[in-house]
Order: sequence, then C-alpha cells, then structure tokens
Amino acid sequence: MSSDFKSVLHETRVFPPSEEFKAKARISSMEEYKRLHEESLNSPETFWGREAGELKWQQPWTQLLDWKPPFAKWFVGAKVNVAENCVDRHVEAGRGDKVAILWEGEPGDTRSITYSQLKDEVCKFANVLKAQGIKAGDRVLIYMPMVPEAAVAMLACARIGAVHSVVFGGFSSESIKDRLHDSGAIAVVTADGGYRRGKVVPLKANVDTALSGGESKVEKVIVLKRTGQDIAMQAGRDVWWHAAEAEVDANCPAEGFDSEHPLFILYTSGSTGKPKGILHTSGGYLAGTYLTSKYIFDMRDDDVYWCTADVGWITGHSYIVYGPLANGVTALMYEGAPDTPHFGRFWEIVEKYKVTILYTAPTAIRAFIKWGDEHVTKYDLSSLRLLGSVGEPINPEAWMWYHQVIGGGRCPIVDTWWQTETGAIMITPLPGVTPTKPGTATLPFFGVDAAVLDDDGKEVGPNEGGKLVIRKPWPSMLRTIYGDAERYEQTYWGTYPGIYLAGDSSRRDEDGYFWIMGRIDDVLNVSGHRLGTAEVESALVSHASVAEAAAVGRPDEIKGQAVVVFVTLKAGVEANDGLANELKKHVGNVIGAIARPDDVRFANVLPKTRSGKIIRRLLKEVAAGGQVKGDTTTLEDFGAVAALMQSQGKDE
Ligand code: WTA
Repeated sequence: MSSDFKSVLHETRVFPPSEEFKAKARISSMEEYKRLHEESLNSPETFWGREAGELKWQQPWTQLLDWKPPFAKWFVGAKVNVAENCVDRHVEAGRGDKVAILWEGEPGDTRSITYSQLKDEVCKFANVLKAQGIKAGDRVLIYMPMVPEAAVAMLACARIGAVHSVVFGGFSSESIKDRLHDSGAIAVVTADGGYRRGKVVPLKANVDTALSGGESKVEKVIVLKRTGQDIAMQAGRDVWWHAAEAEVDANCPAEGFDSEHPLFILYTSGSTGKPKGILHTSGGYLAGTYLTSKYIFDMRDDDVYWCTADVGWITGHSYIVYGPLANGVTALMYEGAPDTPHFGRFWEIVEKYKVTILYTAPTAIRAFIKWGDEHVTKYDLSSLRLLGSVGEPINPEAWMWYHQVIGGGRCPIVDTWWQTETGAIMITPLPGVTPTKPGTATLPFFGVDAAVLDDDGKEVGPNEGGKLVIRKPWPSMLRTIYGDAERYEQTYWGTYPGIYLAGDSSRRDEDGYFWIMGRIDDVLNVSGHRLGTAEVESALVSHASVAEAAAVGRPDEIKGQAVVVFVTLKAGVEANDGLANELKKHVGNVIGAIARPDDVRFANVLPKTRSGKIIRRLLKEVAAGGQVKGDTTTLEDFGAVAALMQSQGKDE
C-alpha cells in the first residue's frame, strides 16, 4: 500500500561538523553515537543508570521500566523533586551566583536572576501556593506573559507536587474555560497583562471572562503585576502575587515525589474534537529533557542559550524551563515578538547578550528571510556557535539561509523532531557528530527506537514513505491523555499494537536519516501518488520570489486530488499570472510533473496557529471553495483568513 508513498525531495548537500566543534564535543564520532544508541536500547538499565544518575534522586528506583502497553512507568519506586533538580542542585554545587535567567521585556526592560535568587523565588511562590490551600496533585492553570515569573510559577508547582497546566497567553478566554473544565484546576496564576507587538494583552480580564458563569472549580486567582493597567480584583478569590509573597518566607523543603507523580498537563489540538490534555510525569520527563539538552544543545558553563518559543508550548516547557535549568545553563527569555519594535529585534538581542546557542522555528526563519537580510547583517552574530530548529520540517532553502546568514557558515544546525507527546527531542543530529543535510532531522536520539512502517506494519525500504513510529517506550513519553485513557490508546497505540504512532509521514534515506514529509492526514494523493506537503512546499520556497508556501489537496474528479498552493512572496515581489505560471513550472522541474500545482494562490500571510503551524484545514476549505468553519480561536491573525477568502476566485 505505502510503496506508492513517494518522496520527491532530492537534497544532496552534506555539512559535517567542523573540526573545531568536534574537538570539544561530548560525543565526537559516529561510532560512539552508535555504541551509545545501541546501549540505550539494548541495555537501558546501564544507559539510564549512568545518565539519569547525574540527577538528584531522593530515593533510587528499584525498576527502570514497568511496561504494560500502552502504559509505562519509568524509574519505578524512585522519589524525586523536579524543581530541586532545576534549582537547588546548582546552588548546592556552589553555582548559586551563576545567572539562571536573563530576561528582556518587549519594551526593553531587563532582568537577570541567579540560581540562588531563582531558588528563593521558587520557594516563596511555592509557599504562596501552599498558603492558598494548594496541595500535591491539585491542578493549577498558568496563563502568563513571557516573564520569569512564568517559569517560577511552573517550578513552584513542581516543588509542591501541584500539576501545572500552562495556557499560552495568546489564547482566548474560551480556551481557558475549556482547559479549566477539562483539568479541574482549582487555581489560576496570571498577570494583569502582558506586552505583545506594542499592545497590552488583557490577561486578567480574559481569566475573569473564563471564570464568569461560575462553572469552574477555581477558588484562587494569583495575579502578577506586569503592565500596571486597571483590573478588577474579586475579594476572597483574587490575590496579588507581591502581596501574597510578602507574607511568606523562602524556606520550602523540596519534598520527594514518586517518579510517576504528574508534573503537568499541556493541551494540544487534536485533528478532530477537543484539545488533548497531554500528561507528563516527573522522573522520566526530567531525565529526558535533561539529557537531550545536554547532548543536543551541548550546554556548557559559559553558554548563553536562547530558545525563542513561548512557555505556553511544549518547546517552552522542555527547552526554556526544565531542560536548560536542569543543566544549570544561563537561559535567555524574551517577552515579545520578533518584529517589535523592528525587524532586527532578535539579532539585536543576540548581539547584546552574546547568545551562543539559538533554538527557533522554521516559520520564524522564513519570516526573517522575507523581511530581508539587511535587518540581520547589521548586527554582530559572531557569538553564535550552535543553531536549532523545531516545529515543522525546515525547507532546505530556509536551512541554507539559517546556516549561512545567521550561522555564518560555522554553526552546526540541529533540526530536532519531536512532539508535545514525546516530551523531549526524539530525532536530531548530535552537533559534534552527525553530518547534516538541509531538511532532515537525521537520526534517533538515545533511547529512541524510531522506524517508518507501511500499512501492514512492515518497515519500508530506503526512500520509501510510510508512517513514523516509535517501537519502544521512552522516559519522557506522555503517560495518557488526561481523563481519557481510551483516546490515548486509540490515537497513539491503536494502529500498530504496542507501537507509538507519531501521526507524521516520513522516509529514511540511504544513510538512515529521517525526512519528515508532513502529517499523515496532510498527505496529498495525486493520481495515486502520495506526496508529502512538506516536499511541495520546499520546492516552492526554493524559488527566489517565494517567502512561504502551503500545499493542500482539492478534490478532483480525475486525479483524486489536485494540488493547490498558497504562497507568500518576498518583499518587493509582485504577484501576477506570469509568476503563478512560473511557480507551477518550477515545482514541476524540481519534483516532477505529478507535483505541478494546479492552482497557485497568493496571500499576504498564511493562516497559522499561534505556535506557527499552518492551518491546512482552513486552506483546504478555501481551496475547495467552501465556507470557513470550526474552531478558529487559535488563529494568529483573523485578517489572514479574511484576506485569503477575499482572494478566492481572483486568481482563478
Ligand atoms: C512537527 C513541537 C519536521 C511534526 C515540538 C510533529 C516537525 C509536530 C519537527 C509536533 C521537525 C516538529 N521536523 N516536523 N524538526 N518538529 N514537527 O506537538 O509534524 O507542537 O508531529 O511539538 O510538529 O508539534 P508539537
């Protein structure tokens, strides 16, 4: 069945790590990577005993894994406090004066917080939570701007065993309401407001709206003063962060919790129905984020590490908060948008703080390309030594630009494939080892048994497309969908029993590298050929005029599906019929006639979720000429949808 799942991307450029990077890398040869990868799969007790043994366990585990598919328990019998590992451990090691969080607000205000200070902040806020009646196991919803207190609130929950559920600050009150209902949270931590693109986001007012109607179980709302605008405070329910903190001290012993004690619930959208509450637990998640951060980002004492995600996403959880802090690195946090107050904002920050490791998303990279190199090249980016990418397949042309313009040709790029569900990075280059190729996340990380299967569950041959799966459980895996074990079982384990279905299509090349082709449900089927949307999009982005592209299928009587592409153009390029024809031809040349788009539609912006993923469902409806419907609360910009709807018909 899947043998007609064709891959059409032909990328042959290879970039081995530089000798300089290799010389000081923790792992510096392919042989060593292979040996450790084999050990992690064949002798997991030895591997995790050594690697996770670097963390602080208040009580050791008696059994590494208890696997009753699809339910896993890791580090069974161990007691651990995740916050203690991220904070106290470094203070106790004499590194209390090291900066943990460097922060820059969108208006340009700054803060620098050492590990000792962070410990005090976390302990104080943990005591605030306790004073408000919050206990281990209680759910706490966090709806905050990108300020250090967001991390403090998460770590304070972890310290007392409360389960946080962070809701991205760009989400609406409707989203908060759904998540409050599903998680049964009894408290909310928020701020009066936050800054985004020069405007104040009314966070507290959104919480008030979500709580009106009185269906939630929320008893307490703790409010940080950030923007200082007027807000309503409801007596008995709402307390100011600073007032509550003034009543407590910084003494909060780190109690050890069971390794499988829930750490957080993070909601992620499903292909249908309501968002899924992905549940992560303590020991395994900590081990996974610690180890991936250490080896993949090569974190060192003198690094300034910057992950540009928001703490509202899994990337922010794992690679702004837990992974970097577990490694005791200096992590930079930025509150605002990349284009406020100007297009060079990110690069200004890199220069100012001498950032050494940068982790961002292809959608951001394509925006930078569109805005023009002049906003980048006027800054000194020579401090950078390692670059990361996450969130979508990175188009080879965007990869090359990232490599050359941002990385000055000297920084390895780690293209990291993973998911909210996986908790930590799963498929990735190791920066001192893996020869990279633009567009592939390359090889599985330690402990990850990744494969590509056909519909019968057989592994496909080189360059044949199929479904990406993980065949063995791993420590940072989700444990369930909160309150819906049946959906957990069906969604992830129902297709191939005992095997995790990622929901992405992929192929492996002759070197065993994984090339993600898109989500399974986004596959195009043109005249019986299955094409990955990512491949058509990469072909388009390789054209000099194109900034960003999205490919979707439209029902077609003859071909089954016709290829419709939505394209945004680089600054100064004019959209016209001539260019549309040229782009069709271009895709035909790069991939082959089967992929030649039937329609090219130009748009000012593509509709995206707040985390930067293109909303294909919407584009499909637009392509098919249907009406826009369904949940649009996660749109980056409603104007984008409007513009597309308006452009409908014009290009035909
Ligand atoms: C996609 C983000 C290709 C993929 C950490 C996955 C990627 C989904 C990559 C998870 C990558 C993420 N290459 N595709 N490097 N990274 N994806 O849950 O489709 O927001 O299934 O987690 O993003 O998105 P999520």
